[in-house]
Order: sequence, then C-alpha cells, then structure tokens
Amino acid sequence: MNWKLPRRQFLATPGTAAAATLVGECVYPWKSTLAATPLVRRDVGNMNADDPVLVAYRKAIKAMQLLPNSNPLSWAYQGAIHWTTLPGPLLTSWDNCEHGTDFFWSWHRMYLYWFERIIRKLSGEPCWALPYWNWAPGTELQLPVPFRDTSSELYTVNRDAAMNSGAGTLPPGAVDLSSTFTNTNFLTANNIVQQPHGNVHVLVGGWMGAVPTAAQDPIFYLHHSNVDRLWNSWLAQGGGRTDPLLDAAWKSKTYVFFDENGQQVKMNACEILRASLQLNYVYECEPAEVNEYCFRRFPIWLYTRELVLRLPIPPVELNSETSSFPIELKEIRERLSSFVENSKETLFLELDDVEAEKAPGIIWEVYLGLPAGTAADAKGPFFIGTVSLFGSGIRSEAHHEFKGAQFLFPLNRALKAALKESGERLLVTFVPTGVVVEGKPTRARALSPVRIGRASLVVERQKEQQEQEEK
Ligand code: C2O
Repeated sequence: MNWKLPRRQFLATPGTAAAATLVGECVYPWKSTLAATPLVRRDVGNMNADDPVLVAYRKAIKAMQLLPNSNPLSWAYQGAIHWTTLPGPLLTSWDNCEHGTDFFWSWHRMYLYWFERIIRKLSGEPCWALPYWNWAPGTELQLPVPFRDTSSELYTVNRDAAMNSGAGTLPPGAVDLSSTFTNTNFLTANNIVQQPHGNVHVLVGGWMGAVPTAAQDPIFYLHHSNVDRLWNSWLAQGGGRTDPLLDAAWKSKTYVFFDENGQQVKMNACEILRASLQLNYVYECEPAEVNEYCFRRFPIWLYTRELVLRLPIPPVELNSETSSFPIELKEIRERLSSFVENSKETLFLELDDVEAEKAPGIIWEVYLGLPAGTAADAKGPFFIGTVSLFGSGIRSEAHHEFKGAQFLFPLNRALKAALKESGERLLVTFVPTGVVVEGKPTRARALSPVRIGRASLVVERQKEQQEQEEK
C-alpha cells in the first residue's frame, strides 16, 4: 500500500500559455465558452444534487429515455453498446464491452468519450464533462448522495438496498488499488484493476452487478470515469510504466460507436492515448497527463510471464463460509524466497477457469499465509486481492461463448511476511465479503458457489528495453 495520489498539483494546459488551472483547488469555470483548455471531469463527491453537471446529466437521461431503443442516442441503445438484455437481433455495436481482455481500459475510454458527447448534445450544455465516483480507499465508499434520491433520474431501485439507502459502504478490501498500482506492466495493471472495478459492480448490485444490465444504471458511467482516471494515475507514477505501444493488436483493434448526431464513428487505441490532447478532457485533482504516442521512438520495457508451478489443488469451492487451499512449501521454499528478493520479478498466484452458475452477488477477499489466529485484515500484509465475478465466469450470463474468469494476485509482499512465519505449507484463504452496513461487516451470503479450475504460480520478468519501431 505504498501508492499515494498527489493531491495538489498544477495541471499542464497543453497548447496554451493561458493560466494553468489550479486543480488542487478545483477551480474551473464550468461554463466557459467552448473549451480552449480541456474540460474537467469533476469528482462527484464535491457536488451537490443541484450542481449544474448533475442537473444537465438528468436532463439528458430523461431525453434519452424518451427516444426509441433503435435510436443510437437513446438510453437503451447506449447501454446496449456495453451489453444488452433487449430481445431481438443485436444492432450495430451492441454487446461490445471488453472484460477479461487487454482492451478493458481502452474500450471503456472510447465508450465514455462518445457517451459524454451525446450527453452534451442532449443536455444542451456544450461544456459538460462526465463526473467520476472516486471510490478509492478512504474516499467515497457510499453511493453518491444524488444517486440515492428516489425522485431523480439518477436513481434506480435495481441496486443493493443498503447501498441505495446510504446505510451501505464498500468494504476497504474491495477497493484496494495497491496491487494495480505497483505493477509496471500495462497488461498486468489492466488485468488487476478489473478486480476492484468488478467488486464495485457486484456490491452496488442489481443492474450494476451484471454485465448485461450494468450500463442501464446512471452510476455506471461515473464508476467507469473513475476507472479511466486510474489509467492516467497509473501512468503518472513513471518507473517505466507505459501503454503497450509495441503491441500491434492492442493499437489497431477498431471499434464502432455513434457520435452525437447518430453517425457511426470508428476508433482505435492510438486515438485515445492522450485524453486531454485527443479527447479534450482531464480529471479534477489529478497528476498532469502523461502523453503517450503510438508512433514515436523511445525505449519500452518488455515483460514475459512464465509458469513456475502448477499447484495441485483439491477441488475448492468459494461460498458463504471461509475456504482455503494449501501450497506445499517443501520443495519450493528456496525458490519462492529468491523471487521475494528480486525487484525485477513478480510472483503471481494465477487462478484460471473460475466460474459460477449464477452471479454470486458477493466478493471474496484473498489472503496468502495468514497465520493461525490472525484475523483477516485487508490492510495487513497477507491480503493479496479479491475474487468477484463480473464479465466472465458466470454461465447463466454467457449469451455468446462462455469464458471462465482469470485472476492474478501479486504475491511478493505477502510472501515476504508469510515465509517468516510458516511451516510446511501456506494457505490461500478466501473470505466471503459483502457491503458494510451501518459500519458493520455483514454476513455475506453467496447466491451461487464459485469453483476454481486451475491454480498456478507464475512469474513476470522485466526484460531489457526495446525500441518501439517508428512508422
Ligand atoms: Cu464494461 Cu464496468 O464494465
């Protein structure tokens, strides 16, 4: 948990010598004439219900809900681009969302960008920018107040009742971002950030809890605005972090969206790397944007991931009770210790073919080597991450092809603590976790058990740098 966001900074204002916006003070003329400087996606936690941003969002939602489902600007169509339960044939771009893939951050950035333009048009507010729900640890762990007002367009009854009433808060382990942020490899960070992201989905519950319905809830877009913000926060830590600019498939995969006039538009990752320069937005209270370029020459770290060991695990089922499986240490203790000491290697526990019949409705905190008698504490050194199913691994939601879920848990920190303690084996422990109600953890009941197909130890190595080719 050594990751901290710099809270007060000057944002670089690209292209102008005009006054830099003091973002730490969150001063921004929301209704400026058309943006000479990028528009600011603000923190919803600093907004009252009558904030012009939320008033405009409500107005646009209302207008979108009145349009027929077949109109690309309608609320239903926009939600269906993510995924849909609407009957009938799939229309252009429906069911397009990317989860459990290398395109998670990039696809959702494109999706929000076009959605934001549509809201601008339908609210009549040309400077509107999508707010974000900052659920990172220690911040806004309740559903933002304006989204709990039952008379508002921002409300839906299709959520967890405690979250929707304000009694519920997200448990700290669910929104832990330290393992996302410590990784320097984009593809790994993009994989791991999907865990806290999925936890928020599952715990807000209802529509948000399942991919096919998630984007019908107005909070969805603020949740993803935050996920998108984390992409730049991750880059801004430096240390060799960069987008996967040597990955031709990542750069060239092209998607279709609709602009605010209902015209089809195509987009790929090279068009969205620099949010402020290419997409005209920045986030409030954020580090300056890191400008990445698809076709410039500079050295980039390469990573390899290799199997260390397939773990012979017994059948493990995650359910409403704490469960665990052992890792036998006899033969591998030395080897494991060597990973802990090496800063260029990260050891991961990888779980594959993780699946459930139906959405379980809860999450599991995962611990490595928790000593007997030690209480599970997501802020302690033995916490390695979470399991929640969202986007893959749920059989009843797979209306195309079924894909089991994969999870990666960086182990270096927990191993260091655990190897000091233990004897012959290390336990991997799964603790069922739900929404915290009135400050107390509730007993989490799984609606469907989760099975784990395979478990392995894999190592990721940072290789020497290679130059990106210029085109
Ligand atoms: Cu595509 Cu958070 O979902």
